[in-house]
Amino acid sequence: MEIVHPEIQEYIRRYSMHIRPELEELERETYLKVMLPHMISGAEQGNFLFQFTAALNPKLVIELGTFTGYSAICMASAMQEGAKLITLDVNDDISYIPIKYFDKCNLNEIIDFQLIPGLDFLPTVLDESIDLLFMDADKKNYPKYFQIADSKIKSGGYILIDNILWNGRVTQKDSINSDTQAIVDVTNMVMNHPQYFTTILPIRDGILMARKK
Ligand SMILES: C[S@@+](CC[C@H](N)C(=O)[O-])C[C@H]1O[C@@H](n2cnc3c(N)ncnc32)[C@H](O)[C@@H]1O
Repeated sequence: MEIVHPEIQEYIRRYSMHIRPELEELERETYLKVMLPHMISGAEQGNFLFQFTAALNPKLVIELGTFTGYSAICMASAMQEGAKLITLDVNDDISYIPIKYFDKCNLNEIIDFQLIPGLDFLPTVLDESIDLLFMDADKKNYPKYFQIADSKIKSGGYILIDNILWNGRVTQKDSINSDTQAIVDVTNMVMNHPQYFTTILPIRDGILMARKK
């Protein structure tokens, strides 16, 4: 199911430029060399992440799910000197791609790329230290990620959760699988949590945006 009418989606796409030329090259390389290349954030979502990060001016960003590095580059490009973006993945086969582009974009001072599962890393983060958590990894663990991350998010900090509309599958009650169920579960958890003000943005596959009080 299309989240946004295809003609409107195409119209938005036409106005979505990569924020820097290296990202056009990164997108091309991803589509040439990597399985499931559509997982890349791309310009539409990347530009939102860039603008949102610039407005928030975070000191610490954690990203779950680096993939080829597109979203990490968008967020890090909006961060000030001294700030840190820690981005995690478990796929070592393609890790040469984000490493190459973080270097090309001169973002090595800001981006700390680690090959470690999100569930192993998150518990090691200090309480109330995260300004922005971008969740874009394995969907089945989204509820666990939220449970662990809650105490790590600062007051006034944000959680962004990608694929929250899951191609519309969240509305198909009869054919729900475990990934879809996990997405519906985390949506309910955050929406019903008294400490968060939560909005769903229909950008690309849907982004849940939650601000901690
Ligand atoms: C949708 S892609 C991320 C896209 C990326 N944020 C971007 O904008 O291009 C999901 C990524 O999550 C990674 N992943 C899967 N399980 C993970 C886990 N347990 N911990 C961290 N990353 C994981 C996958 O290897 C994959 O690269």
